[in-house]
Amino acid sequence: MFITFEGIDGVGKSTQLDMLERFLVDNGKQVLRTLEPGGTELGQEIRHLLLHRKGDVSARSEALLYAADRAHHVATKIRPALEAGKVVLSDRYFDSSVAYQGAARELDVDEVRNISLWAVDNLLPDLTVLLDLPADEAMRRRGNKGTEPDRLEREQVEFFERARNEYLKMSNQPRFLVVDASLSPDEIHQQVIGRVSALLDQ
Ligand code: TYD
Repeated sequence: MFITFEGIDGVGKSTQLDMLERFLVDNGKQVLRTLEPGGTELGQEIRHLLLHRKGDVSARSEALLYAADRAHHVATKIRPALEAGKVVLSDRYFDSSVAYQGAARELDVDEVRNISLWAVDNLLPDLTVLLDLPADEAMRRRGNKGTEPDRLEREQVEFFERARNEYLKMSNQPRFLVVDASLSPDEIHQQVIGRVSALLDQ
């Protein structure tokens, strides 16, 4: 089973991933917890180029770097783990590219999706949890963390609004569970494990 978590920066994905990972391990599952960008050694270098290198990255170059990270991630980590029967939990996957490079960067959303699908040879998640929060609220939460913003986090609120709206648009697909990220961590977790348990019982 392949589960991804999505949402704009600041919605609380890591907390929910921690809670779901613990739940699955407590229930005897073997779990691979991973992330994009940077889920592999090559990906760590790509992550650095994308988020921490000084200077501009053009929009199409950015889209291709995320896709390159993802292609290697799927080929060398995600597919082997799924074949070994593990539950794979990923902090972001290609929906992030559709929302951020497609909608927020104002490239063509379908083209960005197609590049990513080619990169991963059409591997789709079984479940995608979208944590939803208005962009200004997510930015406020992020500000409270007090960490130095990376290249993408330095974007304006409108950028994150476009990403959020695109996430909401795509979330009518059956693989999505949309959760109101303003709820408490426990309330969100209950909704997530409700859906995950139903999938595991199938
Ligand atoms: P993330 O690791 O979630 O951020 P953090 O470590 O700060 O919690 O992601 C890094 C940034 O990359 C985030 O702003 C979202 C962005 N991103 C894209 O723009 N496109 C993508 O395809 C992915 C995977 C991430």
